[in-house]
Amino acid sequence: MTDTASEYPQFVKIVEVGPRDGLQNEKEIVRTEVKIQLIDMLSGSGLRVIEATSFVSSKWIPQMADHTEVLTGIQRVPRVQYPVLTPNMQGFQDAVAAGATEIAVFGSASETFSVKNINCSIEESMLRFEEVVKSAKERDIPVRGYVSCALGCPYEGNIEPTKVAEVAKRLYEMGCYEVSLGDTIGVGTPGSMRKMLQCVLKEIPPSALAVHCHDTYGQALANILTALQMGVCVVDSAVAGLGGCPYAKGSSGNVSTEDVLYMLHGMGIDTGVNLAKILEAGDFICNALRRKTNSRVAQARSRML
Ligand code: HMG
Ligand code: MG
Repeated sequence: MTDTASEYPQFVKIVEVGPRDGLQNEKEIVRTEVKIQLIDMLSGSGLRVIEATSFVSSKWIPQMADHTEVLTGIQRVPRVQYPVLTPNMQGFQDAVAAGATEIAVFGSASETFSVKNINCSIEESMLRFEEVVKSAKERDIPVRGYVSCALGCPYEGNIEPTKVAEVAKRLYEMGCYEVSLGDTIGVGTPGSMRKMLQCVLKEIPPSALAVHCHDTYGQALANILTALQMGVCVVDSAVAGLGGCPYAKGSSGNVSTEDVLYMLHGMGIDTGVNLAKILEAGDFICNALRRKTNSRVAQARSRML
């Protein structure tokens, strides 16, 4: 029998990205009150991090145009962080004005994706992020960093693990306290996850890494398990498996928080998150979107009712 305690972390931090990554791709504008209620329900579940919205251009991502109303409308729970995406100084300043206390910059390991997503090269994005991180540090605002296309790009196909490690290292060295490695289009397998992490772990300690898996090919849980075996103990996921990136055609939602929790709790790994409360939040948002949940756990539970 496997000794869980020695092979896996005892505690895994879940970063709930549903209100941001989950909703950003929705065609119909979701009402601000719905977004706020979703975040408030998630806040009562024991989650420690809930990515709330994005301070990006509403011409690029109309769904996030109500970022200020969302961030100022939620009931903040002490000890819960509500990071928001900020691609540049304008986004950073708007986020600070709205009361953001944690931000995230988002880069890519693919040149083409970088241009399609944030309209600049990887190098240009790093220069912008350096400015943002410097300003955030002056205000004691922690910054998370993302590397998209860590296991493949919708435009370029395969991405070299060395490129992922290079971008991740830049983000870590400029002061991001955690770097989240994104399988943006959900094409990775435990094999490519292992190879990529072996490379990144030469530059960054596992305690400063997170994995962010979309589930297009149904590999997300296996990929997460592989990352946990390699020492990663932070996992991004979205309630009800909502999500997708508008600049990554064909990609599906994030791995669902419900399914990640079911797996981790089943392995005896603590998350501090109450699965029943996440299921309630998932029901709420799926009803609001008139959408069936992508969570297998939620589907199984509803069949048992
Ligand atoms: P740009 O058009 O190159 O910006 O967009 P610009 O600096 O040339 O300015 C043009 C106009 O945009 C100006 O307004 C600026 O004020 C405005 P105008 O004078 O024309 O009226 N502008 C802004 N407005 C609001 N907020 C801002 C901002 N900056 C400039 N922050 C920009 C560049 C980065 C803004 C744009 O490309 C953008 O908003 N991109 C966001 C894309 C995005 O949100 N993608 C999804 C998130 S990434 C993701 O999902 C992956 C992830 O989940 C991890 C994974 O899965 O791998 C994180
Ligand atoms: Mg994503």
